[in-house]
Amino acid sequence: MDSLLAPLFEPLRIGSLQLKNRIVMSPMTRNFSPAGVPGERVAGYYRRRAEGETGLIITEAVGIDHPAALGEAGIGESDLPHLYGESALAAWRHVVQQVHEAGGVVFPQLWHQGVMRHQGTGPYPEVASMRPSGIWGPQGGLTSSPDSYVQSQLVPTQPMTERDIADVIQAYARSAAHARDCGFDGIAIHGGHGYLIDNFFWSVTNQRRDSWGGNHRERSRFAAEVVRAIRSAVGPDMPIVFRFSQWKQQDFKAKLAYNPEELEQILTPIADAGVSVFDASVRFFDRSEFPDQGGEDGLLNLAGWAKKLTGCLSMTVGGIGLNNGMYDSNKQGGAQASDNLPALMKRFDRGEFDLVGVGRSLLQDPHWARKARLGLGFDTFSNEALSVLN
Ligand SMILES: Cc1cc2nc3c(=O)[nH]c(=O)nc-3n(C[C@H](O)[C@H](O)[C@H](O)COP(=O)(O)O)c2cc1C
Repeated sequence: MDSLLAPLFEPLRIGSLQLKNRIVMSPMTRNFSPAGVPGERVAGYYRRRAEGETGLIITEAVGIDHPAALGEAGIGESDLPHLYGESALAAWRHVVQQVHEAGGVVFPQLWHQGVMRHQGTGPYPEVASMRPSGIWGPQGGLTSSPDSYVQSQLVPTQPMTERDIADVIQAYARSAAHARDCGFDGIAIHGGHGYLIDNFFWSVTNQRRDSWGGNHRERSRFAAEVVRAIRSAVGPDMPIVFRFSQWKQQDFKAKLAYNPEELEQILTPIADAGVSVFDASVRFFDRSEFPDQGGEDGLLNLAGWAKKLTGCLSMTVGGIGLNNGMYDSNKQGGAQASDNLPALMKRFDRGEFDLVGVGRSLLQDPHWARKARLGLGFDTFSNEALSVLN
């Protein structure tokens, strides 16, 4: 056992579930599910991460049972999986079985693309995209989306109606029930990165004057209602992980909260609705979120604040074991293994967060967690890992 990383191999109880260690496979879209159905290759891919001792696998984002949940998102994604219909549900049941046979634990990440959906694409191209206020985002935000996509998305559309909102919330609950029936061990919710739930959080995309808009707490109502509906669909014990982010694909520099008070207003209603774990998505785990707070608080990263403000468990992510973030590695062809694990453990040992999300390193190497336990060296991340299911 590697002594630096030994604390990551303490078990953790979340509701009725026991994790054998604190290493989580962060959700990563792979685009290998033709017609929305994950096949044998996808099942084998997740099974290998379970064999490699990953404590919890969060799947790639999976479209919920709503016709506007998925599109191509402007970046040519067309083989995205979904969580409805007999063939997809049978396929997910098989994925779960494979992971369980290998001793793993797996949650699906429920996804509605909201404003990021490329209009006129996806399984139901005729259906309008769901946008809280008909707005995609700002003109001139810092984005890596192609300009042609941004320009087409900037055209305003109809805001969501009350009926649209109710339908989407029910669709989340239906998909969570499907997930439970497939044997998944918990539910992860994608509430970040500029997709639908995040569209309600962000004042740029949510300019509603009804009860779904307003101040930070009021803009959090949609997320809270989604969590409440999922909680009532899956029962009191099933873990629910909620991912949120300051940054958005429409503008990497965007922020939902400029201080802990604003963050508390956003997260408290969601915690009260029944979340078990906050997954705070940042590009680098080793950054203080509100450095002007001073003292120990000034050191906390976003996951540290989520835990402190809500009392829920939390998970950090972003560049763990690597020398650059995912957008830089996209441009540079990869990332070197970096020795930032002592910095990670300093935070973990202070109790800032309970779980550690690993993304690209687990694409590269299914046995990352086992190697961490044994103190073996890690691989360099090569972008080739993005186009295969090794
Ligand atoms: C290929 C790829 C696909 C991703 N897809 C998703 C996704 O579907 N849902 C999500 O919440 N985050 C997604 N992410 C972000 C990762 O979950 C993770 O937060 C990010 O890669 C930072 O972790 P890392 O530095 O260890 O890679 C994706 C990242 C990559 C590299």
